[in-house]
Amino acid sequence: MRVLLIDDDINLGKVIGYQLEKYGYEVDKCSNGTDGIAQFKKNAYDIVISDIQMPDISGIDVLQEVRRINKQVVVIMITAFGSVDNAMEACRLGADDYISKPFGQEQLFFTIEKAVRLRALQSENLELRSKLKDKFRFENMVANSGAMQNILRITQKVAASNASVIILGESGTGKELIARAIHYGSPRKDKSLITVNCPSIPDNLLESELFGHVKGAFTGAIKDRIGKFEQANGGTIFLDEIGDLREELQAKLLRVLQEQEFDRVGGTKPVKVDVRVIAATNQNLLELVKQKKFREDLYYRLSVVPINLPALRKRTDDIPFLIDFFLKRFYGEQDYTISGEVISALKLYEWPGNVRELENVIERMVTLATDNKITLNDLPEYIGLHGHDAASFAIKIPEEGISLDSIERLVIKEMLERTGNNQSQTARMLQIPRHVLLYRMKKLGIESEH
Ligand SMILES: Nc1ncnc2c1ncn2[C@@H]1O[C@H](COP(=O)(O)OP(=O)(O)OP(=O)(O)O)[C@@H](O)[C@H]1O
Ligand SMILES: [Mg+2]
Repeated sequence: MRVLLIDDDINLGKVIGYQLEKYGYEVDKCSNGTDGIAQFKKNAYDIVISDIQMPDISGIDVLQEVRRINKQVVVIMITAFGSVDNAMEACRLGADDYISKPFGQEQLFFTIEKAVRLRALQSENLELRSKLKDKFRFENMVANSGAMQNILRITQKVAASNASVIILGESGTGKELIARAIHYGSPRKDKSLITVNCPSIPDNLLESELFGHVKGAFTGAIKDRIGKFEQANGGTIFLDEIGDLREELQAKLLRVLQEQEFDRVGGTKPVKVDVRVIAATNQNLLELVKQKKFREDLYYRLSVVPINLPALRKRTDDIPFLIDFFLKRFYGEQDYTISGEVISALKLYEWPGNVRELENVIERMVTLATDNKITLNDLPEYIGLHGHDAASFAIKIPEEGISLDSIERLVIKEMLERTGNNQSQTARMLQIPRHVLLYRMKKLGIESEH
């Protein structure tokens, strides 16, 4: 590591420089602040060590100039014995640490290494955070169907506001993903997103978990403790499976939503917070309201902006894109292929577990496939009919019957997709003249992309 050492005490500079070099650091020395700053601009340093009291410009000025140029470099100040005020001021202005004269070699190295380690952790943390944000960017969500496009539009708009959001949808439809996208797409993105899975916390603990408690509020409350709402202050709280929240806590939640304040368990002073609430459930909340299991006022308060995630079977247009998305995730840089028959079978399946189930099925197929080629053999038995030809499982006839038009539409769309929207080829494969195909497409409202 490269060190810039700035000290007007030439002898001390020599000693420190010698010790550092012996330890493997590369050291440049300057004996006043002006030279120090000029030298800093010439080279890339990992660490700056500067005395505070110097004749021309002070170490504090050096610090400020260095920080203006570079926020990442480690800066350690040397202070005269007893001048703690100076040292504190330096830390406030961005020094990583300080060391008081006189100091020994171990103390010097300890201080440097501690500061370097802390910096490394900080930058790692920053990087992780930005990766996390990246992962939940709207662009990283598959939303090809009209329904999902619409949801993305609403989600993006609502992210910019402070409105409470309720996300409704069957299990595995992407409720948590949307909640994260809202937080990381909002002005609160640099503050915490705190997730609470309501049913996973025992009933008697949930209130304290959410709102905190004061010492002595109940047996076991040996000291004050802040809850999730306070942890989320300035940021967002995501209340998952809110349908399970018990009556008394619903009232408390309503108060937070209306007044942005609550009492800790056993507390006497209300606590003020600035928290955005996102809630989700796979239950039918309106039905719970009718059964008087969920407060109506809370329901309306939460559903300022309701987001209804459709089940995957209702947006089959997304399926090929999701397949692609997950395959790329599992295969990374590797090449792979997937047969059209597999895609057709996946499109026709009901997906009771929605996107999560699809993700699991793809992962399973990737594991089973030989030479990165996914074929019907890799499809779980319950999804496709193993070994049959594609046409024989392409049409599932519901018990109550099905209109011929919808079967025709299905077959035409399927063929168009297989031929990459080539109409002549589609007509040939369906054994009809091209103009008949065009006529039927028009009649059935199938849009042609060419
Ligand atoms: N549109 C999408 N694009 C990409 N991945 C998605 C999409 N929707 C869901 N997923 C993925 O599917 C999985 C399930 O999503 P998520 O956990 O958000 O669902 P959920 O509705 O919260 O489910 P549950 O009700 O079971 O809690 C996750 O791995 C998520 O990343
Ligand atoms: Mg979830």
